[in-house]
Amino acid sequence: MSRQLNFDRLARPYRWLEYSTFGRSLERCRFHFLPSFTSARRALVLGDGDGRFLARLLHSNPQIEADVVDISPAMLRLLRERLTPEARRRITLHEADARGFTPAKSGYDLVVTHFFFDCLFQPDLEALVDRITPRLAANASWVVSEFARSSGETASVAGRAVISSLYAAFGLLTGLEVRSLPDQQTALEGCGFQLCSEKQWLRGLLISQLWQR
Ligand SMILES: C[S@@+](CC[C@H](N)C(=O)[O-])C[C@H]1O[C@@H](n2cnc3c(N)ncnc32)[C@H](O)[C@@H]1O
Repeated sequence: MSRQLNFDRLARPYRWLEYSTFGRSLERCRFHFLPSFTSARRALVLGDGDGRFLARLLHSNPQIEADVVDISPAMLRLLRERLTPEARRRITLHEADARGFTPAKSGYDLVVTHFFFDCLFQPDLEALVDRITPRLAANASWVVSEFARSSGETASVAGRAVISSLYAAFGLLTGLEVRSLPDQQTALEGCGFQLCSEKQWLRGLLISQLWQR
């Protein structure tokens, strides 16, 4: 494991930094597959940050319960504050490093990872997917939103510049040592997931993917 990660400093400004750099594009990614999750009953939500996705998920699906894992106490505080008292009763918070986290429960039919895989080195990502997969229901869905290397030369040069600057900023603010996007396809396919659907934004710089076992 790398040096200590600290996302607390980023917790309050995160939303406004996001809106000022990408407008509502990241939100479009996060919420794109939400209508597919109305029949899910047990979610595992990794690195949801300030909880904007979780709040929507709990609102749109009154049956679902969620285990929520984040390394940052400040992010978890914001996430909790965002929820109604009723929604809070349906979540269990885990202040933990996902790189060493194994869920105590099993039977999750939904895993949520929005802009979280990019905080992991490839071996940590593969180990995480490997550790979590045995805790999932047979028909589980895994939703991933991420930055991606865009195709097309101009878009790809611009995309690389955006991703490098984001990593530099996150490195300074949080201590994150990762400097390149990991490959979720290898990690998920290696554990028996298949890509069912993908949507791209900003000429392929942002993607949201729905994977299923
Ligand atoms: C870039 S933010 C993404 C937040 C949100 N999911 C979104 O869609 O914008 C990464 C989140 O993952 C959490 N995180 C980063 N590394 C982590 C780790 N190793 N274990 C658990 N949480 C982690 C951070 O605290 C933060 O809340």
